[in-house]
Amino acid sequence: MSATERRRFAVRRLTLSNFRNYADLRIEPAADMLVFTGANGAGKTNLLEAVSLLVPGRGLRRPKLTDLARQGPAGTGRGWAVAARVETPDGLCDVGTGLEADGSDNDSANTASRSPTSLPGRRSIRIDGETARNQSALADVMSAHWLTPQMDRLFQEGSSARRRFLDRMVFGWDPAHAGRVAAFEQAMRQRMKLLRGDRAPDTTWLSALEETMASKGIAVTAARLDVVGRLAAAAAEGWGPFPGANIALSGDLETWLLNDPALAAEDRFRDSLAQARTEDARTGRTSVGPQRSDLMVRHQPKDQDAELCSTGEQKALLIGLVLANARTRASEEGGVPVLLLDEVAAHLDEARRVALFEALHELGGQVWLTGTDAELFQPLSGQAEFFIVADNGVERLR
Ligand SMILES: Nc1ncnc2c1ncn2[C@@H]1O[C@H](COP(=O)(O)OP(=O)(O)OP(=O)(O)O)[C@@H](O)[C@H]1O
Ligand SMILES: [Mg+2]
Repeated sequence: MSATERRRFAVRRLTLSNFRNYADLRIEPAADMLVFTGANGAGKTNLLEAVSLLVPGRGLRRPKLTDLARQGPAGTGRGWAVAARVETPDGLCDVGTGLEADGSDNDSANTASRSPTSLPGRRSIRIDGETARNQSALADVMSAHWLTPQMDRLFQEGSSARRRFLDRMVFGWDPAHAGRVAAFEQAMRQRMKLLRGDRAPDTTWLSALEETMASKGIAVTAARLDVVGRLAAAAAEGWGPFPGANIALSGDLETWLLNDPALAAEDRFRDSLAQARTEDARTGRTSVGPQRSDLMVRHQPKDQDAELCSTGEQKALLIGLVLANARTRASEEGGVPVLLLDEVAAHLDEARRVALFEALHELGGQVWLTGTDAELFQPLSGQAEFFIVADNGVERLR
């Protein structure tokens, strides 16, 4: 299949309003490989961040929503907007997200009449002109995955960043996953609030929440296991200088699901939650569930835990995983996600850099690359579209 026939996602137009350092910006990428270069602080990562807000979650930096609004004397309040025309395997789609200017200045009279999506502090989501009920709907129309310099510590940090990394892949395979994760987390928060409240908790309500947690939590785990299973072969293979990785998911729910039918695993999870009430109330943490699972990654050729690998080896493993996911998506139903690779080229030696560019080209998806040094992207001239980021704007190089 040629690159042009490939099913994939691509941003064809991006407009930013009052977003980070951009007052008003509109870019219309034509190519699949997009290279953004500029000085430190020019606004390269902010662009990628804008695209990352078009999939469920809090984007590649996970800031407070109000921090995304342009600051300084010229900024207009706390509101901001990101809108995009996206090419999907099913055709073009207009997607937008943002925070209203009066986002967090709520007065109760106004709040009552607001729609659920424009509640203070909540960003609104629009898809083809319609307001979506929640951001999970984004997974139906947009798919993106990213690597940032902060993720160099992914294997050193706690498991939550690794789960988010995996979940972003799962959103692409199974758009309903985002909604299930959100429903699980909401029930988990409500249960904890009841357990930690001043009064004895209403046990009927508590049981209902645990019921939701059990069904959603097992579904979340099953979807993660499914994607890890689909990716395992491609991940273990590696790609050129990017080493293979052996990936697995570890956790109680995973073990139960591997040994028992889903319904039995659900029963077991529900019973465990009921038994853990006193303990969870005391610690303030939910001791069992998919929020405790971890993505285990081993460097295949070295047969070593990713955590023990060198910084460069870890980076190569991460790139290999992102490529494996995109490649598997290309060969199966669904589409290649948009890849946002922030400063990835700068950290690779020349051979690996060239290999990465070749791999990305072969993949045939849309890739956003950033760097301070335009020279590093020289091998892409003729293939990529080059943009200069400066003075709070973006200019295409002709
Ligand atoms: N809410 C905001 N309002 C105005 N400016 C902001 C806001 N948030 C961040 N900035 C500024 O945007 C600028 C660009 O940030 P960005 O992280 O995109 O830079 P960059 O080009 O990726 O730089 P580097 O090469 O150092 O990674 C920074 O100077 C930052 O202080
Ligand atoms: Mg940056």
